[in-house]
Amino acid sequence: MTAVIINGKEIASKKKAEIAQEVQKLRDLGITPGLAVILVGDNHASRTYVKNKEKTCRELGMHSILIELPETVSQEELLMKIEELNGDPAIHGILVQLPLPKHIDETKVIESISPYKDVDGFHPINIGRMMTGQDAFLPCTPYGIMVLLEESGISIEGKHVVVVGRSNIVGKPVGQLFLNQHATVTYCHSRTKDLTFHTSQADIIIAAVGIANFIKAEHVKEGAVVIDVGINRNETGKLCGDVAYDEVSEKAGFITPVPGGVGPMTITMLMFNTLKSAKNTLHS
Ligand code: GUN
Repeated sequence: MTAVIINGKEIASKKKAEIAQEVQKLRDLGITPGLAVILVGDNHASRTYVKNKEKTCRELGMHSILIELPETVSQEELLMKIEELNGDPAIHGILVQLPLPKHIDETKVIESISPYKDVDGFHPINIGRMMTGQDAFLPCTPYGIMVLLEESGISIEGKHVVVVGRSNIVGKPVGQLFLNQHATVTYCHSRTKDLTFHTSQADIIIAAVGIANFIKAEHVKEGAVVIDVGINRNETGKLCGDVAYDEVSEKAGFITPVPGGVGPMTITMLMFNTLKSAKNTLHS
């Protein structure tokens, strides 16, 4: 079998066009959705992500501000900045780009963001609400994966989903979202014994381990859906995912490429969450 390629770029474009229309409607009511991004230090990858977020905000007609703080900024200063943004009515979403320098307590920073402006969906209140199936800001990459499947017409109810990876940002929450949609979920990780035993039973595999070409054809059941969350560089410096694309795409039913699969959905769902937060102010 040769897999159908799930075109994340195309699906993201469609979603962004829908978001842009909604942004315009809100602007007509006098509300411009606003996102504040805080970048601490000078991590090259973080800077690239942050610039992309700003650019996408502009494209969709949203207001965006970038706050750049030096690597040496104190935790107190960062928390003060977040407090200021929590109270700023022009800002509906606050995102602190991770990772943060070692001297700053990431948990404290995340918990200081108002849950009403936590468009990353990292605040314990939003995580708890997601777990109990209540309305919440959903973390952008897991949410983007759910939209990719929905747009590709792939049903979830009753399916066996195997998540490989257990990060707070992707692995753990994506399993929860599948569970909320009535899938049977197995979590695997670096200490799982006999990974192939688990993955070879999966109707849907979510590869989120952060190791280049980790999931091979032998791990995959014929016709399975394979979602690749990895962004790695191989030995020659080429961008590649967690899935050995060439061999797995010969066996899977559906597959996401890297780049152009999950990646474009993350920013799109950030825009969606910022729009959602701005809309929420209409009812409060
Ligand atoms: N660093 C890598 N991914 C993310 C993300 O989704 N949000 C934030 N805030 N930082 C990140």
